[in-house]
Amino acid sequence: MKILVTGGAGYIGSHTCLELLEAGHELTAIDDLSNSSKESLRRVEKLTGKKVDLRCFSLLDGEQTLAVLKEVQPDAVIHFAAMKAVGESVEYPLRYYKNNVSGTINLIEAMQTAGCKNLVYSSSCTVYGEPTKLPLTEDHPTATAESPYGWTKLMTEQIMRDVHVSDSSMNFTLLRYFNPVGAHASGDIGEDPNGIPNNLLPFITQVAVGKLAKLNIFGDDYETRDGTCIRDYIHVVDLAKAHVSAVEQVVAKQPGVVTYNLGTGTGSTVLEMVHAFEAASGKKLPYEIAPRRAGDIVAAYADPTKAKEELGWATTLDVNDMCRDSWRWQSQNPNGYEAS
Ligand code: WQD
Repeated sequence: MKILVTGGAGYIGSHTCLELLEAGHELTAIDDLSNSSKESLRRVEKLTGKKVDLRCFSLLDGEQTLAVLKEVQPDAVIHFAAMKAVGESVEYPLRYYKNNVSGTINLIEAMQTAGCKNLVYSSSCTVYGEPTKLPLTEDHPTATAESPYGWTKLMTEQIMRDVHVSDSSMNFTLLRYFNPVGAHASGDIGEDPNGIPNNLLPFITQVAVGKLAKLNIFGDDYETRDGTCIRDYIHVVDLAKAHVSAVEQVVAKQPGVVTYNLGTGTGSTVLEMVHAFEAASGKKLPYEIAPRRAGDIVAAYADPTKAKEELGWATTLDVNDMCRDSWRWQSQNPNGYEAS
């Protein structure tokens, strides 16, 4: 099929482009390169021997967005393009609402005008807030978001539900990710955040490679087995493969609006991830216990049953694979894509 991938040069986007190419699909990617590098897709092309047609602009340019949709006529769109730093969204809310919400509105309008009916959307488990019941199923109530970033995910999901009510020919598959980590086994593509990483694994790998001095663990006095927060870390390659299943299903079955939690179903604490990384990398990781981080929830992990039953998808890679592959990427690319 012909698939348009917004944010295709990004961390999850580039891993998904690789799996889509391996599955035989034809790709056009849109990326404004604000938090990504063309190099990621160059490496995807080298790894697969196939091409990605990359167009570099922001979805805030509605005219260019419509022009590409009309020209390419994709069977489906996978929509990753968004800003995703929780803390930054608190500091610059309007930037987040404009980029994430207005950009999505432009995309959906262009799809309707160009006649593209199928969207797979990069959402997040952050929409659940602090879970009242674990493991998290898709019918768990969504909460008031902890940050403007979280609100943009809640709002864009609602926009898609409302668009489907007004135009039932539009199909939206909402993928609620848990915590994506890891890298392709080649070590050639991986997570390359701008500036100091917000997220745990890229921070750990930058400490291990010597770019950062030590890890601050944000609180060890939570009501968990070792006092540190629990998350459902999912290997980015498993996550990418879920997108292949989801995009093939949305075109084949025209399911309307469907939601899937994408996690392993297993939670790991921060300290467990630190120890797993030390075992996988052979590196001792210096860390200190620091005060709790505002907005952190205590525990979240998925019930992945629905994705298994309806998408025929399940994770195959575990925390050791995630840590090993994260380390291979970072040790082979100490400065991420910068050097290239
Ligand atoms: C995980 C755990 C921290 C860094 C967020 C977004 C989510 C998605 C992933 C975009 C927490 C602890 C972290 C550090 C630490 N974003 N930690 N020291 O907050 O679960 O999820 O990022 O797609 O939508 O909400 O991920 O990796 O930031 O934190 O102790 O230097 O690691 O307190 O318990 P989070 P995270």
